[in-house]
Amino acid sequence: MNIGGRISGQRLAVLLGSWRRGSRQGAVALASAIELQVLDGHLPIGTQLPAERELADALGASRTLIGAALDRLREAGLVASRRGAGSWITSPSSGGSAPIRSTPDTDDIDFVCASAPAAPGMTAAVDAARRKLVDEFAGTGYGERGLVTLRERIAQRYTDRGLPTSPTQIMITNGAHHAFVLALRMIAGPGDRVLVEQPTYPNALEAIRAAHALPVPVALDRDGWDFEGIEAALRQAAPRLAYLILDFHNPTGLRMDDEGRQRLAALLTKARTPVVVDETLVELDFGNAVAPRPFAAGDWSILVGSSSKSYWGGLRIGWMRASEDLLSRLSSARYGSDLGSPVFEQLVLSELLIDPEPLRRRRETVRTQRDALAAAVREHCPEWTFRFPDGGFWLWCKLPEPMSTRLAVAAASRGVLLAPGSRFAANGGLERWIRLPFSQPPDRLDEAMRRISLAAASVRGEANVVPVT
Ligand SMILES: Cc1ncc(COP(=O)(O)O)c(C=O)c1O
Repeated sequence: MNIGGRISGQRLAVLLGSWRRGSRQGAVALASAIELQVLDGHLPIGTQLPAERELADALGASRTLIGAALDRLREAGLVASRRGAGSWITSPSSGGSAPIRSTPDTDDIDFVCASAPAAPGMTAAVDAARRKLVDEFAGTGYGERGLVTLRERIAQRYTDRGLPTSPTQIMITNGAHHAFVLALRMIAGPGDRVLVEQPTYPNALEAIRAAHALPVPVALDRDGWDFEGIEAALRQAAPRLAYLILDFHNPTGLRMDDEGRQRLAALLTKARTPVVVDETLVELDFGNAVAPRPFAAGDWSILVGSSSKSYWGGLRIGWMRASEDLLSRLSSARYGSDLGSPVFEQLVLSELLIDPEPLRRRRETVRTQRDALAAAVREHCPEWTFRFPDGGFWLWCKLPEPMSTRLAVAAASRGVLLAPGSRFAANGGLERWIRLPFSQPPDRLDEAMRRISLAAASVRGEANVVPVT
């Protein structure tokens, strides 16, 4: 039974990127590209697909090719169709016997999710938090702003970084993404525009679309932010909100310097545009340069932060920093979606924040992984280029030709799950780029690059090249 939403032909065309360019076997390539979107969770089970004619128009392909691709997907059990009801995404386990590629197995290397296992010190923090939890039992456990001790420690971190902050300016959330969504829902409504960098964090784009708002992308190139482009977008599109990542940007790894921050603050203040600055990666700083001060632009800047990259994604604890006035509006608006964050996890993070060691060791490990991944790219894919980042979790690699989506499809069949460049774009494109996370141990990174180089060779029609082993 189909119980999902419907995806338009145009939206599906954007998701699919350049699946077809250069492909001799159009139907197979299209079926694989759709399968990749299903595996990535972009086409949930139950999603109603556009009619063949609409899809053919949107993709600029013949109906015969669309029909052949759908046949393949039906055979693989990924699509079901019924006369009069159209076609929808289904689960391979509910029927079908010939998958287009083998389902993910334990040997698959996940390069889509850029996250690491729990930081060292987590067990000790959990034990300490368990002892302190008893003291919380006398209270109700509710509190939309979060535990005072945790807010004090987070406020102190901002103050130490050069932005004096009181605990009354902090609200604890269930991760940085949750913090962004709360701000987005309060500030922007359906039809409103939200300025974003291009490329940007894909889940932020998802959230903007889910709020029925429209992303307004401003290109971010390898050298940094295009301030004239931002100024023009603020003037012409009059966005209700801006969402920017200034520290070890996802996916480029870039960091905006102090001068850039001042320039940006002046532009946003002049345009009176509220901004969410996502600082999720700020603590994964390998310490090669003096850190810029946190971004500040009057009463309408919201900084969001997270424990996910510094300590562990499973904690699901983040926060937002805003002026007291704005924060009280944000905390009231929160009642529309949730009633606060779990006390135990907040206690765990409070413990982690008083010990500098877990974060120091996390940075050391990730820096070693960055070096290992950079070496593996140079060895296995010497034509790829990238900027060496001073922090964060990924290399943003430029490919020798526009092939990111095809590379992701080919890599999946070799057991590496990749997020193609188009995932980081508001309206598709970025086919010359791929994001490679260095969130895994060096030997896994090397193995991933070995497999990716084979996938790249097959995409470029060089499957007969003997790989370096
Ligand atoms: C820029 C950025 N913001 C937010 C998140 C999600 O953060 P959280 O797990 O705290 O919700 C990520 C995760 O990769 C990210 O890269």
